[in-house]
Amino acid sequence: MKLNFSTIEWKDVPVSPVGSQGGPASPSQCGKVRILDQTMLPSKLVYKHIETPLAMAESIKSLIVRGAPLIGVAAAYGVALAGYNSEALNYGEFKKDIKMAITTLRSTRPTAYNLFSALNRMEKIIETAHEISLLKSLLLKEAHHIKKEDEQICQKIGENGLSLIPNKARILTHCNAGALATAGIGTALAPIYLAKEKGKNLEVFVPETRPALQGARLTAWELSQAGIPVTLICDSARGTVIKNKDINLCIVGADRIAKNGDIANKIGTYTLAVLAKTHNIPFYVAAPSTTFDPIIKSGNKIPIEERNPDEIKKISNREIALKDVKVFNPVFDVTPYEYITGFITENGIQKPPF
Ligand code: MRU
Repeated sequence: MKLNFSTIEWKDVPVSPVGSQGGPASPSQCGKVRILDQTMLPSKLVYKHIETPLAMAESIKSLIVRGAPLIGVAAAYGVALAGYNSEALNYGEFKKDIKMAITTLRSTRPTAYNLFSALNRMEKIIETAHEISLLKSLLLKEAHHIKKEDEQICQKIGENGLSLIPNKARILTHCNAGALATAGIGTALAPIYLAKEKGKNLEVFVPETRPALQGARLTAWELSQAGIPVTLICDSARGTVIKNKDINLCIVGADRIAKNGDIANKIGTYTLAVLAKTHNIPFYVAAPSTTFDPIIKSGNKIPIEERNPDEIKKISNREIALKDVKVFNPVFDVTPYEYITGFITENGIQKPPF
């Protein structure tokens, strides 16, 4: 499956004049990370270059880079940047730089577990050596690993979910759990891409996903790029679509999965799961193992991010509500495991009991 965009790429930047060093990346080079600015889609394909962990943290907070698996990869590269570009002269100073970057990145978004699983992995690396140049390359290597693994996991999720998609499938998803949310071909959208590649006919119904419109701006765009028929609906049309449009199945992604199988995903996922159960439509969650929180027992313990009220009070910077109206803007909700037909992971399809 070939995509015509790339969400995240590491770039080596020679510090000394080109050609004077030659050879592979060395401490005489610094790095930057090229990310696709998702706030500009679908009107413009704009890439941004990130040079510091702080800039990476800002990009994660402001949804320039988003989606649980991609947030994990971006955070890992944020730490790699802190290491690669550090001017520390001894191990103590270097470790301080890395720890500070990790703390900053950890505080960006509370819900997506991938952020924490990736940062925990990066944190372990600083204890494996004491030599700064070695640590710089080990940190970068680990970030590359996290990215590569995510690409491979997405492919596996696609292959494992393929059998669930009949020919002429009519699928309802939510938010964006596609290539834009990962380093690969996505989670919820991965089986859809592979089904299309196998020549299956399908149609995907995409809710706009208020307030940040990931469905309208991102999912509808990336599926259309791949030639997959999309029907965009407003969030409140999902009941009507499930009831009247012969939907075969729902597939969504997840930001965090508790030990009992409860999931946190974009606000509105729970409503969709209740609708699916009421209408006897299978409701699948596609997610990598990096989204499974090994500690949190149930969904009510998952931290739910609340974002700026302006996301609801304004559309395209235009005020659509009273300036001082009280707003509640949780951007994720929890779907209890009872509503989930199965999980599609890189290890196969898992059905209850979870
Ligand atoms: O706020 P976002 O855009 O980061 O939310 C994204 C989602 O809710 C996705 O469904 C989830 O991260 C899974 S992505 C494979």
